[in-house]
Amino acid sequence: MRPLRILFVSSEVAPFAKTGGLGDVGAALPRALRAAGHDVRVVLPFYARVAEGGHEVRPTWGALEHQLGPHRLSFTTLEGTLPGTDVPVYFVHCPRLYMRPSIYTMDVDEHLRFALLGWAALRIAQQLRFAPDIAHVNDWQSALVPLTLRSVLAWDRLFERTRTVLTLHNVGHQGTFGAHVLSELGLEAARGMFHQDELGAGRLSFLLHGILYANAITTVSPTYAREITTPEQGVGLDGYLRGRADVLFGILNGIDGREWSPTHDPYLPHRYTADDLSGKARCAEELSRRVRLPHRPGIPRIGMVSRLTWQKGLDLCFEVLPWLLARHDAQLVVLGSGERKYEDFFARLAHLAPDRVAFANTFSEPLAHLIEAGSDMFLMPSRYEPCGLNQMYSLAYGTPPIVHRTGGLADTVQHFDRRTGRGNGFAFEHFDARGLAWALDQALSTYDDPTAWRRLVDNGMREDFTWDRRVAEYEAVYAKLVPEAAR
Ligand code: ADP
Ligand code: GLC
Repeated sequence: MRPLRILFVSSEVAPFAKTGGLGDVGAALPRALRAAGHDVRVVLPFYARVAEGGHEVRPTWGALEHQLGPHRLSFTTLEGTLPGTDVPVYFVHCPRLYMRPSIYTMDVDEHLRFALLGWAALRIAQQLRFAPDIAHVNDWQSALVPLTLRSVLAWDRLFERTRTVLTLHNVGHQGTFGAHVLSELGLEAARGMFHQDELGAGRLSFLLHGILYANAITTVSPTYAREITTPEQGVGLDGYLRGRADVLFGILNGIDGREWSPTHDPYLPHRYTADDLSGKARCAEELSRRVRLPHRPGIPRIGMVSRLTWQKGLDLCFEVLPWLLARHDAQLVVLGSGERKYEDFFARLAHLAPDRVAFANTFSEPLAHLIEAGSDMFLMPSRYEPCGLNQMYSLAYGTPPIVHRTGGLADTVQHFDRRTGRGNGFAFEHFDARGLAWALDQALSTYDDPTAWRRLVDNGMREDFTWDRRVAEYEAVYAKLVPEAAR
C-alpha cells in the first residue's frame, strides 16, 4: 500500500502521559505505523506532567485562538518527537485547561478540555497543510473529530479525502455530559447531527457521536468487539455498535519490544531470554529488596500491576486472597492506585502479613517492569478487559498470567493443560470467587511441578505479540477506507 498520511489523536501517549494501556498503545501504534512507512503525526495535550517530564519540545507557530461557545481559548503548539522515531508529536499547550495535577479530572470544564483536543488536532493539520488520509482518534476524548469533519469543517478542501477511524479502548468511559455542553463544543451549526433522543434526555456523549460518525471503528481485541455488541457488555452502546457492525473490527493490541521485552527492557537490572532465565531469578531478588519482602526462591510469588478500579475485578480478591494466603505458602506483590476500598484492602493485607504481601500504592513505571520480571505468576481477574497489556507483558516475561476469560484476556491466554503441555496461563470462566480460587489453585499446583512449569513459561515467552503483525490489520482497515492507496 502507498504510505498514508495519518493524524493520530490520543489523550495519552507514553512516555509523555500515561494512566494505563492507552498510553502504551498511543505510542506503540504510531511507532509501528511509522515503521511500516506511513507519515504519522501525533497530537496530545501538554499536561502539567508533560511539562514536568523534561521532554524536549520546541515552539512552532504563534498562538491560535479557538472559540468554544462563550469560551475564547488560546493555545500554542509545541513540537516534540516520539522517542525512538522521527514521528512528530504536537502538544496542545493551553495552560488554562491542561496545567492540572491529573490527566483526567472531574472539573466542570472537562468537556472543554477534550473538545479542544479534537479541534486543536484539526487546526494543527491546517497549520501544517497536512491533508490526512486517515484521522485516527481514540476513545471519547477525541471522538468528536469525525462529526466535526463531516459538518463544520466540511468546507475545508484539506480534509476532502480524510477518512476517520475511531478506536475503542474501553466503552466503559463515554465522556457523557449534560446536554448544555453542546453550546460549548464549537459545533452549534451541527446541532442536527447530534443524537436527538440523547439531547432530549439531557445528555451528550462524546463516544456515541464517534461511533455514529467514524468511517470505521476498531476495538482492541476480537472478543471485545463481539462483547460490546451485546446488552450485557455494551454499556448502553451495543445497539449503535450493532448498527455499525459492518465497519467494526477487533484488532488485538501488540506489545512494544523496545520497552517490554525481558531482553531489552531498559528498566530491568538484569535481562534474560527464554533460554536462560538466570536474569529473571536475579530480578526476583532485586524485587524482594525493592518491596522489602524476604527473598525465598522456590516460594511462588504472585504479581499484580493495575489501576485499582471496578473493571479490574478486584472485588473477587476480598474473599479469595486471604483464603489463598491461609492455604498456600505464597507471596503477593501489588502495585496500583485507584479506588479507596481496594487500596485499603491491599494495605490491610500487607499489614496483616508483612513478610508475604507487599503493596506499593503508587504509579511507578520501573516497579511495574520489575514486578513483571521478578514475579512467578501474574494475577489479572478483570471483570471485563478490552484487551489488557499486562497479561501479554507477563507472557513475554515468563510470568504466566491468571485471568478471567473475558475480552482480550480470552484472546491471549489459553488455560494450561498439563497432559498435552499446551497453553500459556490459567483462565477461569465465571466471574466469581470460586472461579478465581480454582484458577489460583491450578497455578500453584502446576508451579509445584517444575517440568510442567518450565514448559508453561516457555510457551508464553516464545509467543509473538509484536505490533508488526497488528499493523497489517490496521492497514487493512485503512485500505477499506482509502481504496486507491491499497493499489
Ligand atoms: P488498562 O489500560 O485498563 O489500565 P492494560 O493492561 O491495558 O490496562 O494497561 C495497563 C498499563 O498501565 C500497563 O502498562 C501497566 O503496567 C500500567 N500500570 C497500571 N497501573 C500502574 C501503576 N500503578 N504503576 C505503573 N504502571 C501501571
Ligand atoms: C483500555 C483497556 C485495556 C486496553 C487498553 C489499551 O485502558 O482497559 O484493556 O489494553 O485500553 O488498548
